[in-house]
Formats: sequence, C-alpha cells, structure tokens
Amino acid sequence: MPDWEQDVAEVILSEEQIAQRVAQLAEQIAADYQYAELVIVGILTGSFVFLADLMRQLDRPCEVDFLQAASYGSGTVSSGEVAIGKDLTLSVTGKHVLLVEDIVDSGRTLTELVRLVENRKPASVKVCALLSKSARRELAVELNYIGFEIPDRFVVGYGLDYAQHFRNLPFIGVLRENPTTASRE
Ligand code: IMP
Ligand code: MG
Repeated sequence: MPDWEQDVAEVILSEEQIAQRVAQLAEQIAADYQYAELVIVGILTGSFVFLADLMRQLDRPCEVDFLQAASYGSGTVSSGEVAIGKDLTLSVTGKHVLLVEDIVDSGRTLTELVRLVENRKPASVKVCALLSKSARRELAVELNYIGFEIPDRFVVGYGLDYAQHFRNLPFIGVLRENPTTASRE
C-alpha cells in the first residue's frame, strides 16, 4: 500500500483529469490574452504546482511573480485573517495580471490580494483558480477561470497541503479524519 493511502480517504481528481483541465484552461487564457502580455502571479505556496503546469501549456509570452498570504494555520479551518507574507517583486503597473490560486474557500485571501494588486494600478486583474468550494464562500470574489468546483471537503495534493504536507501528491484527494502524517495543532 502506498504511504499516502493512510491519510487520503479518496482520490477525487486524478493526475490525468487535472492535466486535461489545465490544458483547457491554458488554451482559454491564451485566446483571451491574444493581444496583451501577461504577468502571472502565483499565490504561494499552494499554487506553485498548478502554476508550473499551466504556464508550460500557455502559448503566450508571460512574466511570472509570486505573492504570499496566509489565512490558515496548520489546521483545516480558516482563521479569518489574511497576512501578506511576500509582496510582488515585479512592477505590475499598466500590466495585465492573472492571479493564480490553488483553491478558493471563504474568498478572504483572494479578496485581499486582488485589492493589493489593484492598488498598483495594473491594466487589468483576472483570477484563475484550480479549485473552488463555492459552498463555503463568505466574500463574493469574481473567478474568471475555474478548474473544478468541489464539495466542502478538505483536500490535499497537487500543491495543496495539510500542515505543509502532501503537496507532492500528483493527484487531489480528500484527507482522512485523523491523518497520521503531520498531527493537528
Ligand atoms: P480562503 O481565504 O478561505 O478562500 O482560503 C484560501 C486558502 O486556504 C487557499 O489558498 C488554501 O491555501 C487554503 N485552503 C482552503 N481550503 C483548502 C483545502 O481543502 N485544502 C488545502 N488548503 C485549503
Ligand atoms: Mg493557498
């Protein structure tokens, strides 16, 4: 039995399903930005796997930068506060920004980061989220590209963590009730 099976109850999105959807999203994004050069801004840490796959499927010139926010501790419930961990390195003034997020839950992180980017006076800001749990939304936030709508369950893998673990799983799965790897704080 592979190691992860102790902690993952069910695989909900396979490596193949994710790859297929990422390619579709990249095609849609490339078509929408035919006449505009993009700055892709990944929201750390969870988006790095998605971003790496998405940009390699994207047949458009682009720059890449990262922003970091933290609305969760190591648990599975939002603390409701968003802190900025890493600011942009590039200037996005007058540029077309595509924020890339792993998952949108309450919408707090994204609302805060969209505001931060808008303050820099970009030409436009759009959002691409791999996953959306719209059942848990507290703040309305426009998602221009969504990979998959998922039910209200805590998922890990493909960049998504539980207490910093499981980001390396190539698929997305639902975490078991009492995971043995990385104990709850
Ligand atoms: P929000 O601010 O409540 O929308 O939370 C968004 C952030 O919470 C995401 O960037 C993730 O890091 C984290 N998050 C929310 N749901 C999950 C989940 O099911 N698994 C792993 N991380 C999650
Ligand atoms: Mg995140």
